[in-house]
Amino acid sequence: MNTRIFRPQEAEEAAAVLRNGGLLAFPTETVYGLGADGLNEGAVRRIFAAKGRPQDNPLILHIPDAGALPQYCAHIPAAAYALARRFWPGPLTMILPRRPLVPDVVTAGLDTVGMRCPGHPAALALLRYAGVPVAAPSANTSGRPSPTAAAHVLEDMDGRIEGIMDGGACAVGVESTIVDLTVSPPRLLRPGGVTLEELRETLGEVEADPAVFRLMGEGEQPRAPGMKYRHYAPRAPVTVLRGAPAAAARYIRRHLAAGDGVICFNEFVPLFEGWPTEPIGPAGDPAEQARRVFDALRYFDGTETARIWAMCPDPDGIGLAVSNRLNKAAGFHVITVDGEGEA
Ligand code: TXA
Ligand code: MG
Repeated sequence: MNTRIFRPQEAEEAAAVLRNGGLLAFPTETVYGLGADGLNEGAVRRIFAAKGRPQDNPLILHIPDAGALPQYCAHIPAAAYALARRFWPGPLTMILPRRPLVPDVVTAGLDTVGMRCPGHPAALALLRYAGVPVAAPSANTSGRPSPTAAAHVLEDMDGRIEGIMDGGACAVGVESTIVDLTVSPPRLLRPGGVTLEELRETLGEVEADPAVFRLMGEGEQPRAPGMKYRHYAPRAPVTVLRGAPAAAARYIRRHLAAGDGVICFNEFVPLFEGWPTEPIGPAGDPAEQARRVFDALRYFDGTETARIWAMCPDPDGIGLAVSNRLNKAAGFHVITVDGEGEA
């Protein structure tokens, strides 16, 4: 199959791919999505095949505005509309009770469905022209880092899907925040561009799912099925360093061996001269780190790097999302250093 590249101005033509049961990767403000008509079971099945995604991992439905919620969801709490007013279009997915019209293949048989209105003009134009809810996971091969540029999508999906709309680099860089509104108190299932602190401003109490912070044990079920899989993982094993940046950098410098690579804050690049180094932004700018973290992880897959050491921000604000993705890439192999750079 020849994968056609669409420009954002070609939203109407690109939407025809979706309406005809095809697969179209498209830009959102978080990461690129791999879309299909969410009411077309056969089209949705092709998403799972193209990604190599396990069947028990449900997909998010993308809609152009909150007005579409009642078509696909039942028992919508007032909190959902309060969140939509504040954060949509934007990097927030809400888990709500689904209506029977949403196919089982989308929800992996769950009685809930994830709903999101993306904050990217090309994505919104596409959704309006498509006139159907668009089921879309991140447009990476399952297990690989999520794509934040059209070139990443081509790497994984060229020849496997009908089209890719190239909308440039993603502004947020990590996937949407997922909040489950079917439980009380509401529960954060995945941290993202809308922070836990912001969710609490609107919702009051919000619990964070344990899968955000640690590996799930045998027999434990995270509420977002996708959180149990090894994720975002480059080929080389990753070790994450937590603690004061200067101490973390010193620790890495002392333990670096031939063949290792480093993901670090910009300030520390000179310390690692001679080693493959991917800077992800200044230590004090976790929003920039979010934009660059997946590209950094993906970069090392094209190299012979044997081990990756990664500096990591504090888990506040969007730093929680960056640290969650790095920790998951590392299989939660995290070393915390004290002020002296000792573990
Ligand atoms: O930013 C994003 O959310 C991107 C863009 C393309 O919109 N999409 C995305 O989709 O990250 P995906 O499929 O890569 O991640 C969706 C996550 C998975 O962990 C999945 O298990 C969880 O959402 N999820 C989907 N539906 C769910 C449901 N009904 N209940 C609990 N978790 C759900
Ligand atoms: Mg994904």
